[in-house]
Amino acid sequence: MKVYLDTADLGFIEYAFDKHPDVAGVTTNPSLIKKAAGKDFSVKKLDSYITQILEIAGEGNPVSLEVTARDKDGIVRQANNLFNKYNDIAGNVVIKVPVNPYTNGKSSLDGLLAAKELHEVGIPVNMTLIFTVYQALVSAEFAEVAMVSPFAGRIDDYLRQKEGIEFQKSDYYPANGVLGPNGYPISDNGIVSGVHLVYDIARIFKKKGLPTKVLAASIRNPRQALEVAAAGADIATLPPSVFEEYSTKGKAVVIEIPTQEIDQRFYTLPTNRNIPTNYIAHPKTEEGIEKFTKDIIPEWEAICNGELN
Ligand code: G3P
Repeated sequence: MKVYLDTADLGFIEYAFDKHPDVAGVTTNPSLIKKAAGKDFSVKKLDSYITQILEIAGEGNPVSLEVTARDKDGIVRQANNLFNKYNDIAGNVVIKVPVNPYTNGKSSLDGLLAAKELHEVGIPVNMTLIFTVYQALVSAEFAEVAMVSPFAGRIDDYLRQKEGIEFQKSDYYPANGVLGPNGYPISDNGIVSGVHLVYDIARIFKKKGLPTKVLAASIRNPRQALEVAAAGADIATLPPSVFEEYSTKGKAVVIEIPTQEIDQRFYTLPTNRNIPTNYIAHPKTEEGIEKFTKDIIPEWEAICNGELN
């Protein structure tokens, strides 16, 4: 499994690529850009900051940049702006697109339709905010995206919240799930943990021979990083705190892999444009869109829109 850095912090990116030559990419999102940029970033400064991230990561190490638009044409336009502006630097730009952007508060297929158009013109897409196997499968089969990002930690949050289990953000959640009051593991669409979600996606991609990479995201602790590796993730993107621990002392952990069978229904997809919108809806995708949208800073939006002055 390859490791990417889940941060837009230039200092950390510089440090990690210098100290750990095996780091293979970077993922950003509007919240991470807001966190890294602080208060006094002009559009020009943010532009140079992004340029430096791409240079440090270098050729062959993909850097995901996320659009802020929520409608198909807006996503395609911004993706082209970002790709045309930045990809010449090191040839490593990947455009992050939400699988279901909830345009005007309503579940929509705009992310998938945009990603398909981008694939057709050769722009690689990282389909983000994936919380179900179906969202991943339709992204890979219909839109032929380069990678999908299942949010392992946020699914674990969701499962715990369903049962009122208290937790800290970095707490480990068992890959095989936690038994609920009815004696069965707490589950969501048959998924019992973030690691299980990654496992089912990786397994179905393999079974179907799909080239789309599984990029495990929202990783909260080093043990979860090891478990997604064992579950078949091609890549895990790690925030700085997890990266530090994973790269120094992570390897001595016992790994249990969930063994549940994939539900047969995942093997059949509706044909092309007849994908029902509700098939790709998920409350955590909707919540993720709300959070990212709140965190969009005007300077990043300006860059996405190609307004650089
Ligand atoms: O890559 C997605 C990630 O940044 C979200 O992480 O911890 O906010 O769920 P988290």
